[in-house]
Amino acid sequence: MDPVRNPYAPGAGQRPPELAGRDRELSVFDVVLERVSRGRPERSLVLTGLRGVGKTVLLNTLRSQAIGRLWGTGKIEARPDQSLRRPLSAALHMAIRELAPHHRAPDRIDDVLAVLKAFALRTEGNAPTKLRDRWQPGIDVPPAQGRADSGDIEIDLVELLGDAAGVATDVGTGIALFIDEMQDLSPADVSALCAACHELSQTGAPLIVVGAGLPHLPALLSAAKSYSERLFRYQRIDRLDRISADQALCAPALREDVEFEPKALDALYDASGGYPYFVQAYGKATWDHATGSPITPDDVRVAAPDAEAELAVGFFGSRFERATPAEREYMRAMAALTTDETSDMDAAVPTAEVARALGRKPASLSPARDALIKKGLIYCGERGTVAFTVPHFGRYLRTQPAPE
Ligand SMILES: Nc1ncnc2c1ncn2[C@@H]1O[C@H](COP(=O)(O)OP(=O)(O)OP(=O)(O)O)[C@@H](O)[C@H]1O
Ligand SMILES: [Mg+2]
Repeated sequence: MDPVRNPYAPGAGQRPPELAGRDRELSVFDVVLERVSRGRPERSLVLTGLRGVGKTVLLNTLRSQAIGRLWGTGKIEARPDQSLRRPLSAALHMAIRELAPHHRAPDRIDDVLAVLKAFALRTEGNAPTKLRDRWQPGIDVPPAQGRADSGDIEIDLVELLGDAAGVATDVGTGIALFIDEMQDLSPADVSALCAACHELSQTGAPLIVVGAGLPHLPALLSAAKSYSERLFRYQRIDRLDRISADQALCAPALREDVEFEPKALDALYDASGGYPYFVQAYGKATWDHATGSPITPDDVRVAAPDAEAELAVGFFGSRFERATPAEREYMRAMAALTTDETSDMDAAVPTAEVARALGRKPASLSPARDALIKKGLIYCGERGTVAFTVPHFGRYLRTQPAPE
């Protein structure tokens, strides 16, 4: 059918034509926004899940929800080896700019921006600012002195976020900061962020942090601060159930007057396992191959190799290529140990078994394992296990030819 009218959207962070199966998360967040703006105690949200389940898309939707209630919002994508200070300053700057037009006293806004600038320009600890680090945050007021500029990120964040929340209180709404790929924050930044959220929640300040990250993010947060479990509400974002996956496919098609035969939907769910990225990828290829409505199981069968080829390059291959030969060897050994295709869950493998399969001492494999965790390709599960962050990755690796 006409590829121009193809509604499906496979791709990282691509807004789906239909956000299926996330009603619960959206309504929970509505309650959080309402409670926080009324100064009620409320935990912040942290979304966790595998690659491609729709964390970024959901985070963006929650952000729109906050903007709809006239909250100030900003978003960060954390990166390994990058301090939180600058990206957080930029995000908070954005949030304050959104609130400023609703505020009656421009002086108050300038005061907070001055603190923000001081925070942004400070480097961590006592490190002198290098010439190439002379970065300007694009704030037109001179930096404040003696507030949020100690160089201790924890102290500075508490002061900065407290001041920013004051602006939101004046306006009668709140500030929401969204942090994607939150597992990539440094331990010091995670710890400081938890401390700041803890402080804010005790004073009823209307500022929340909404995070998204890989499944081991809760473990990282509780390693940083033991009270983080009481601070955040963890929501596991998972593959879509059958009804939601069908809705993700049927609703956009219907808007183009196209329908699916029930058996075509069976075949599509078999192929995608309900993983949102795969739902979009198979949906897109099937649409392009189908000759008309209704879409048949044959259309799905003919289109599947195209979808798989696309995924092999865009979803699996691009990630596999980030790994060194030693890391690839590690992942191949993991894949060989997770042949349980009947349970589609992310099967975890004991690291000791990976070592045994490779005929190596576990300690000698730690560098490869740690590097893979840092690259976000695998994560540590419970009791000395590791698992792929990418759904169906084991299956993909088992179809790849072994290296010479
Ligand atoms: N609820 C949903 N219904 C239908 N499609 C969805 C849904 N959520 C996400 N998608 C689709 O799934 C794909 C992946 O979404 P997204 O990039 O948000 O995942 P992610 O969890 O952030 O992945 P990663 O961990 O790689 O960043 C996109 O193509 C998006 O359109
Ligand atoms: Mg994402």
